[in-house]
Amino acid sequence: SGNSVQFDYRPNSTPVPVAEREALLASPGFGRVFTDHMAVINYTEGQGWHDARIEARAPIQVDPASAVLHYAQEVFEGMKAYQSGNGAVLFRPDANARRFNGSASRLSMPDLPEALFLESVRRLVDVDRAWVPSQPGGSLYLRPFMFANEVFLGVKPSAEYLYMVIASPVGSYFKGAGGPVSVWISQNDTRAAMGGTGAAKCGGNYAASLRAQAEAIRNGCDQTLFLDATERRWVEELGGMNIFFVFEDGSLSTPPLDGTILPGITRDSLITIARAQGMTVREEAYSIDQWKSDAASGRLRETFACGTAAVVAPIGRVASPEGSFTIGNPEVGGEVTMRLRAALVDIQLGNAPDPYGWVQ
Ligand code: COI
Repeated sequence: SGNSVQFDYRPNSTPVPVAEREALLASPGFGRVFTDHMAVINYTEGQGWHDARIEARAPIQVDPASAVLHYAQEVFEGMKAYQSGNGAVLFRPDANARRFNGSASRLSMPDLPEALFLESVRRLVDVDRAWVPSQPGGSLYLRPFMFANEVFLGVKPSAEYLYMVIASPVGSYFKGAGGPVSVWISQNDTRAAMGGTGAAKCGGNYAASLRAQAEAIRNGCDQTLFLDATERRWVEELGGMNIFFVFEDGSLSTPPLDGTILPGITRDSLITIARAQGMTVREEAYSIDQWKSDAASGRLRETFACGTAAVVAPIGRVASPEGSFTIGNPEVGGEVTMRLRAALVDIQLGNAPDPYGWVQ
C-alpha cells in the first residue's frame, strides 16, 4: 500500500550557491524562484504509488501524447512553510492533503494516501530548509500537483500519473504590499456551474479564469470577480481567492460552499478565528446589487479577499461597465480585516497560541 512507500533521497549535486540563494531570498517576489529539490512519486494502475523520491529540481520529459496535455486531467495544492522559532513549520497540511484527494476524486484521479502527501511535503521542506525565508511576510510556497501521464489520446482516466511537489520562496502576492486591491466584475465569463469543477483545485479552473483576469487588468483592476453562472447575481469568488464581507454590526459573511466555490483553507481558518473572537459569521449568498447598496449605505464596512498565496487582502473598489463603487476607506484596509489577518499570521508564525493544532 502507499503507506509503505519509502522515499529515496538523491541530493542535487549542483545546488544554487549560498550567496546566490541569499540574494534570491532577499526579494523573491511570487513564484519565480525555486529551491534545489522536488518530490516525485509515480502511479501506475495495478501497481499503485511507487518510486517516491526527493531529487534535484529539473525539467521533466513528457511525451507529446501525455494525457494531461490534451484533456487537462490535473489537480494541485498551495500551502506554505514558515520559519518559526524552532525551524520550518507547515500550516494545516492535513487540510491540503484532504482537499487534494477531493480534487483528485472529481477529476477521476487516484487517491494519494494522506501520509504520503504529508511526507513528500515534509521531506522537501526539510531538504530545502535553507530556502525558507525568515524576513517578515516571507514563506516557502509549496506546490504539490498531480497530472495524467499516460501516452494515449483516448478520453478516459489515465492509467499513469505523476505526483510532484516543488517549492518557491515567496514574498507578498500582490505588488502593492498590503494596501486595498480593486476587483472587476467579470462580464461574460463565469468560473463554475453547479455540477462542474468549481470546488476542485484543478488547473482548468484557473485556465478558464485568465480571460476574465485580463479583462480586469485592462479595466485597471487587480483581480477579476466571478458571479454565479445561473443568475449572474451572486458573488462567488475572485480569480484565485475567496471573499468575505464585514458589516456594521460586526458580523461577517462569505459565500457558501455549495459546489461552485473553492473550499479555501484560509477561508475556513478565518471563519474559525472570527467565531472564536465572538463574531457572527454567516455562510450565505450575497448579491452584487446588495453589495453595492450596502457599501453606499454604510451597512457594509469592509470586504476582503483571502487565500494561501495572498493571505488576506482588503478590497477597496469594485468596478464594472456600470461604474464603480468604493468600500470604507479605499486607501487603507479595514480594521476587522487587518485584525483577522494579524490573528491568522500570528498563529502561522508561532506568535500566538495555536488552540486548533494548525501549525505542524
Ligand atoms: C493560492 O495558493 O492561494 C491559490 O489559490 C493559487 C494561486 C492563486 C496562486
